[in-house]
Amino acid sequence: MGIKVKNLENTFDDTEALKGISFEVDDGEIFGLLGPNGAGKTTTVKILATMLLADSGNAKINGMDVTEYPKKVRGLVDVITARDKFYRRLDGYQNIKFFSSIYEVEDWKGKMKEYGEHLGLDEEDFEKKLADYSTGMRQKLNLIRNLIRKTPILFLDEPTLGLDPVSSRKFRSLLKEVMEEEEKTVIFTSHNMYEVEEICERIAIMNDGEITTRGEPKELKDEIFPKRMIEFSYMDGGKPEFTNEFIDKVKKKGDKVRVIIESGEGDHVHEVIQEILDSGRIRNLTVKEPTLEEAFIRHTGDEEEISEEEIDWV
Ligand SMILES: Nc1ncnc2c1ncn2[C@@H]1O[C@H](COP(=O)(O)OP(=O)(O)OP(=O)(O)O)[C@@H](O)[C@H]1O
Ligand SMILES: [Mg+2]
Repeated sequence: MGIKVKNLENTFDDTEALKGISFEVDDGEIFGLLGPNGAGKTTTVKILATMLLADSGNAKINGMDVTEYPKKVRGLVDVITARDKFYRRLDGYQNIKFFSSIYEVEDWKGKMKEYGEHLGLDEEDFEKKLADYSTGMRQKLNLIRNLIRKTPILFLDEPTLGLDPVSSRKFRSLLKEVMEEEEKTVIFTSHNMYEVEEICERIAIMNDGEITTRGEPKELKDEIFPKRMIEFSYMDGGKPEFTNEFIDKVKKKGDKVRVIIESGEGDHVHEVIQEILDSGRIRNLTVKEPTLEEAFIRHTGDEEEISEEEIDWV
């Protein structure tokens, strides 16, 4: 069960959009596909949703091959993208009523109100024409449409595109909550590392038609960027001379000292902190790690090495 993708390849004209990708998503898992523009995320989702035929390889959804059983697969999956499928001249109620009749859902209105309350859409909103909806309102209605339909598999292709940070966060937290309640299997694509980390248990980073790495967000971060930084100042001129073998670099800038540590296998951070504390009277000591974005850029960009000065530490 779940989703199994094996050696998927797809070429458009002379663009190799997918160069043989493989991954698995467990039943009930929220899986993140993360990658920059043109990485192949949408192509992957389209193949899984039977909207596009792959050149080779195979994909199975709940054990069913998407090419052999497209109709059955379509009954199991739903896709939410930044572009919705609504009728602009109909209001929210009329749109959901229309889709509910296709999906043969009863009591759509009751469910719509219930999910609307959860998401911050009320009756007044539902009475507005879709043409007058903001992007965030449309995305919320999109999610309501899917929740009413209740497919066990959901693909969200950059669903927060165009949402402001507050709406985007609300959308994600609601998504996480209802996905856990409904035990849906979800693939969530994004180029935003933070949002993927917030809602996905495991992620795969895609670049240029290939999956370059996958795992839990923390594992990826450590794998890609195994460094930490301790920043502090001396109150009265201590000497930043240390012996710990895991210290990579020591830099002094004004009254600030930065110690870069290879985080490596064990946690050497507190050994180093002890050494720092023994070296003088310290103030403002903080331990920082690179942002996830940094890890993402490292894994998808062309840069070979980014120096510590260029890194955005948090
Ligand atoms: N219908 C198409 N015809 C020709 N080339 C295409 C088509 N669809 C996608 N491509 C190409 O395939 C590659 C992967 O595109 P895809 O849309 O899957 O990327 P993506 O990861 O979803 O990117 P984005 O973050 O911009 O949505 C790109 O180089 C794109 O130009
Ligand atoms: Mg895309």
